[in-house]
Amino acid sequence: MTEQLDSATSVKLQLSNGKTIPALGLGTIPPDDNPGSVKDQVITAIKEGYRHLDTAWYYGSEKYIGEALKELFDEGVVKREDLFITTKVWPSFWHNPEKSLNTSLKDLGLDYVDLFLQHWPITLHGDENGQPATPKKDDGSLIYDDDPANGTKYIETYHKMEDILDKTDKVKSIGISNYSIKKLEQFLPEVRKYKPVVNQIELHPQLPQQDLVDYCESRGIVIVAYSPVGGPGAPVLEIPLINELAKKYMVTPNEIAEAYHILNNRGVLSRSANLSRIKTITRLPKLSKEELKALYQVGVDNPKRYNCVPYGFGIGFRWWTGDLYSTDIGVMKPHFETV
Ligand SMILES: NC(=O)c1ccc[n+]([C@@H]2O[C@H](COP(=O)([O-])OP(=O)(O)OC[C@H]3O[C@@H](n4cnc5c(N)ncnc54)[C@H](OP(=O)(O)O)[C@@H]3O)[C@@H](O)[C@H]2O)c1
Repeated sequence: MTEQLDSATSVKLQLSNGKTIPALGLGTIPPDDNPGSVKDQVITAIKEGYRHLDTAWYYGSEKYIGEALKELFDEGVVKREDLFITTKVWPSFWHNPEKSLNTSLKDLGLDYVDLFLQHWPITLHGDENGQPATPKKDDGSLIYDDDPANGTKYIETYHKMEDILDKTDKVKSIGISNYSIKKLEQFLPEVRKYKPVVNQIELHPQLPQQDLVDYCESRGIVIVAYSPVGGPGAPVLEIPLINELAKKYMVTPNEIAEAYHILNNRGVLSRSANLSRIKTITRLPKLSKEELKALYQVGVDNPKRYNCVPYGFGIGFRWWTGDLYSTDIGVMKPHFETV
């Protein structure tokens, strides 16, 4: 007889401030061709048992999430306090995270978010409304307000987020995203009152980064993994071991990719525009320690990062294709221009 599997949606992780975060979250980057479809993705996920939604001002999906939440609340499917909702301040809004947060809350139709993250530890040259979100020169390179490799202005954003937590009821917890060890070492001694509870980063069996994971864990910062299957096309699911384990445990390969994090006490964010897929990625197979280690070893042998976007240049991550500062090639020389 098949053993009844636990549901990944019911696992909660402890945060350093005494609160908890549901381990499995629904990612809400919208599909380019149909951003409004995020509304149905959220409704489907919540009805399926998801209690954690991950969004950001930058994604442009918050108003659709707001429509979904209104319907779910009106129908009595869930109450606000049943959900854990994360949003983020984008680097072009670095100078005014409260204004960014207010925009997000208005679109979401909420009074507060459970977690407010700094999206990247960099500062882009946006106006008072964070526009343009991706300021670029004619040659396509980003326009920064500070050197992304060695500047420290990005820390001012976090100080303002600490003030929001201190002085308002608009956020329950604050945290960070896309912080490397290099940035954490520069930033953590500057935290005034509230340590970040979460660092949201790309992580999956092809991208080991155990040093960063250990660094965060030893400082009480919970890792939340994004792109668990490597993003569009799900390249991580081509790993033969993932498929072997999926067969063994009679689950989908996605559920193996999620279990890799949840069983290691990390959060994980999955996204799908396919409503039936959203429903089939919530079981939690009980992988053994040896199997978890074997999954980790895949990336040690052949590391691969999928989100090599330019915002990550200079931050100090390894295996960041195109980043002259990527520490795997040992080159760290400041040459970014700011305005
Ligand atoms: N903090 C940050 O900087 C950051 C960066 C990236 C992402 N995130 C967050 O993390 C969430 C998840 O990241 P992600 O969107 O990169 O994640 P992902 O879950 O790794 O990738 C989702 C993509 O994989 C496809 N996919 C999933 N399972 C598949 C399967 N079995 N076969 C074929 N295709 C499959 C989906 O296609 P279908 O739609 O067809 O299912 C979708 O295009 C985001 O939505 C966002 O909330 C945060």
